[in-house]
Amino acid sequence: MKLLPVISLLALTSATSALDNGLMRTPPMGWMSWERFRCNIDCENDPKNCISENLFRDMADRLAEDGWKEMGYDHVMIDDCWSSMLRDKDGRLQPDPQRFPGGIAKLARYLHDRGLKLGIYGDLGTHTCGGYPGTTLDKIDTDAQTFASWGVDFLKLDGCYSNEEEQQKGYPLMSKALNATGRPIGYSCSWPAYRGGLPPSVNYTLLGEICNLWRNYDDIQDSWDSVQDITDWFFDNQEILQPEAAPGRWNDPDMLIIGNFGLSVDQSRSQMALWAIMAAPLIMSNNLRTLSSEARAILQNGAAIAINQDPMGVQGRRLLQERSQIEVYWRPLSQSASALVFLSRRQDMPYRYHTSLAKLNYTAGSYEAYDVFTGKTLSGLSAATEFTVSINPSGVVMWYVYPKMHYKHQQDDGRYPYIRQKYRMSSSLRFHNPRVVPPSLL
Ligand code: GLA
Repeated sequence: MKLLPVISLLALTSATSALDNGLMRTPPMGWMSWERFRCNIDCENDPKNCISENLFRDMADRLAEDGWKEMGYDHVMIDDCWSSMLRDKDGRLQPDPQRFPGGIAKLARYLHDRGLKLGIYGDLGTHTCGGYPGTTLDKIDTDAQTFASWGVDFLKLDGCYSNEEEQQKGYPLMSKALNATGRPIGYSCSWPAYRGGLPPSVNYTLLGEICNLWRNYDDIQDSWDSVQDITDWFFDNQEILQPEAAPGRWNDPDMLIIGNFGLSVDQSRSQMALWAIMAAPLIMSNNLRTLSSEARAILQNGAAIAINQDPMGVQGRRLLQERSQIEVYWRPLSQSASALVFLSRRQDMPYRYHTSLAKLNYTAGSYEAYDVFTGKTLSGLSAATEFTVSINPSGVVMWYVYPKMHYKHQQDDGRYPYIRQKYRMSSSLRFHNPRVVPPSLL
């Protein structure tokens, strides 16, 4: 067993300052077009799936009507290929007139009327990655103002077709320009992904001051290979990346592909669990019109979302990579709780992994563990208790772990209200609400 050095509390709490726009104090949630719908502009032959205002209205309807919004998924984000190939006569970006006949402002109103927010895509450079008009340095103010005038709430600024020097100037300038519009606009910077994602080429201190989130690494694809590659990169570099996340400033390992074609049910749980541990933005890219009930249950899992959205906003870490190909991930949460993920990289059969909380650096005490995907609670755990979890190949077991209180402290002291109330926690956690269950029954 290879134990990584004990993590210093300092490293976990060294929340550096964040972009001062008050936005995204927890990782943003919502839906984005790219991974699932790419640059499909063939509305003639594929009207339901092409990049058009209909697609975004449809997804907004689904978010508003199928319980997503209540769970926190409140952004609809337009990715590349929305614009016309030409700017208008005043040099402003404009949507493709055939595919967005109502215009972006009208789409924004449609979303706002449903309590949702609209995200849009731009690219610092001559062209977007898909070949549409980009935002060169001289167009930054114009484009920020255009987005604000449309009522846009979020901007993903990509970095195709610009060089290092232009990015160095452009990303901070766009941050200023967005602020200057007076409209709160969340700002996602793809800058680090174009500079290898690591210092010294990437300055995370600066990024945290100018962006709410940033893409550090490669695009996700619809496969388990891609999810594993991204996971490995983020956790192999956790010494650098983990301390950079804090309320208002997040690492972004890219979209959730749950509900598409590449992941099994177990692998879908794994992506959800790992993204929750990473305090990653939960931005789905899937077809909300045809989602399976399994995919929906995973994406709407209240405990996984609550862990992701924990108000303390500390990103988690990989604790262990065992020879058995079991890995253990951990994230500290508010109110002395924490999350554990046991991930199997095996390809044979469910693996029975034996450990104890003490072996995972937990201090002595009594704990309970709520199993995020089965809804069962394990009580009577002490740090020393040896336990066994059975982990499916390419699957996870995910626990929400919290200290068990002594009876005399068991009044309604507001403990766990966040996880219970905001995310419709399964009744089994509520059953363990100390106020209603005498200790003898726990
Ligand atoms: C880049 C980004 C993707 C997507 C495409 C659009 O590859 O990283 O997330 O926005 O461009 O062309």
